[in-house]
Amino acid sequence: MFSDLKCRWFGRWAGLGLGVFAAAAAEVPNFNALDLAGHNYELHRAGGRAVVLFFTGTGCPIARKCSPKLRELQGRFGAEGVSIWIVNSYAEDQPEDMRKECGELNLWRFPYLRDAKQSLALSFGVQRTAEVVAIDTKAWQVFYRGAMDDQFGEGAERAAPRNRFLERAIAEFLAGKPVTTPSTPGHGCLFAFAKVAEPPSYAEAVAPLLRQHCVECHRDGGIGPWSMSGYGRVKNYSHMIEEVLLTRRMPPWDANPDFGRFANAHTLSREETQTLLRWLQGGAPRGEGPVRWRNPYRRSRTGRWENRM
Ligand code: HEC
Repeated sequence: MFSDLKCRWFGRWAGLGLGVFAAAAAEVPNFNALDLAGHNYELHRAGGRAVVLFFTGTGCPIARKCSPKLRELQGRFGAEGVSIWIVNSYAEDQPEDMRKECGELNLWRFPYLRDAKQSLALSFGVQRTAEVVAIDTKAWQVFYRGAMDDQFGEGAERAAPRNRFLERAIAEFLAGKPVTTPSTPGHGCLFAFAKVAEPPSYAEAVAPLLRQHCVECHRDGGIGPWSMSGYGRVKNYSHMIEEVLLTRRMPPWDANPDFGRFANAHTLSREETQTLLRWLQGGAPRGEGPVRWRNPYRRSRTGRWENRM
């Protein structure tokens, strides 16, 4: 409720032309995600005027009932440069489950992106299926987030919606008007995120993870451009770390999991990815106690790199 009110106020201020506030809002993060055919979608390469992310997971009744609404919206706004991307953030959904549901619900016309590590749901602050995040693709700002309309609640349903929040927000956005209701509570099935400490600390959770997956390259003399040689250094790069994780640039390379396992892959697991993201979201705290390692790779007297762990 509080955040809803805050967003409304923010919307009014922005609407009054207090550009300072609008300019201060953070840009949405860029991301890369694969669809069911293995094609890559990069947010910042989306053309048009807006991208609407519709978060989902197979089998959720509310999300399923939104399918005709998605088609309707695309029919109304597609020609005006609004694209709808479906994002499946159920960790355990398999491609065959997703294909089956796409067929049942006739969703083939939409990009259907896979977010099995849930990094998109986590970074966009989405808790439930059927939540949408509508993004202005020029300013990279969110202009609406929440439920598509007020027809469905958990265990409740109206015969027809009374307020079509998303439709109205898109129409206002396209007309260059302030969005009357920029945020509503989402209704749908809750995502089950990985269980990680909130927020995880650098000393306990993050440093060992970096040591395992990143330090081989990110050390003095390594091929990475900066050395993860201590807390301060890593903290400097904390926002950059979010960007490289979401765009799947680091650790190199995040192979399509449909094609088997790769030896010596640095790929982060779902838990590890969420540990890093939650650490960043929590302000990258150092935590109490000693960090178990600083830079485990040191040059030995013979000049060779060796692991001191
Ligand atoms: C196999 C070597 C390797 C590993 C492992 C690796 N990196 Fe990198 N990293 C690089 C290289 C090389 C670059 C420079 C890339 C470039 O300039 O395009 C880089 C760049 C970066 C950057 C700067 C952003 C950029 O695009 O230049 C960040 C942040 C980063 N890595 C984070 C990580 C994190 C976090 C991990 C572990 C989860 C990791 N890296 C693992 C080699 C590696």
